[in-house]
Amino acid sequence: MNDQTKAKPIDPIASVERIEELCANELNDLCDATDAAIQGGGGFGWLDLPARDILERYWQGVIAMPARVLMVARLDNVICGTCQLWKPPVNNEAQKHIVQLTTNFIAPWARGHSLAKKLIEKVEEEALKEGFAVINLDVRETMTEAIALYESMLAAAESTG
Ligand SMILES: CC(C)(COP(=O)(O)OP(=O)(O)OC[C@H]1O[C@@H](n2cnc3c(N)ncnc32)[C@H](O)[C@@H]1OP(=O)(O)O)[C@@H](O)C(=O)NCCC(=O)NCCS
Repeated sequence: MNDQTKAKPIDPIASVERIEELCANELNDLCDATDAAIQGGGGFGWLDLPARDILERYWQGVIAMPARVLMVARLDNVICGTCQLWKPPVNNEAQKHIVQLTTNFIAPWARGHSLAKKLIEKVEEEALKEGFAVINLDVRETMTEAIALYESMLAAAESTG
């Protein structure tokens, strides 16, 4: 086969969504993606791989809690990353306009498809819809990819006003 007859690789479909239920396959994919992120060193607090039942209960808990909003990223329909919004408790009236962004990661095998960017855009959309004006997040200085991502999105937002 010469170069002209070679089939072009098909780009994978990258998508993000807010999710309120997880079927068994999705829970499994989410746990696999979390394992991959933890092994890659970006496991939002996990240092070692937790047992699968602990991870499953963690994500089922997130889905069950009204104060949490879960967004997932998919590559060719397989869940490969997440982002959560933690709403403030009702007694925190002084900070009722502030929401916390956490568990933001894309599994290493799915990086470079603009999924993190799409997730943050979705987070901003959902935060506005829920009536929040400020999104807070913590990032370690060693997470250089994440810092580049947040800074590039901030610069783009500032340049468009
Ligand atoms: C940070 C992370 C979420 C990026 O995921 P991703 O899906 O590959 O990112 P995207 O493809 O959407 O890239 C968006 C932007 O991020 C930045 N970026 C992503 N990967 C980068 C890299 N390896 N080097 C430099 N910049 C990078 C770039 O600004 C890029 O913009 P560009 O496409 O215009 O160049 C991913 O690397 C990750 O999960 N890291 C470990 C966990 C982590 O750091 N989470 C954040 C906690 S606050």
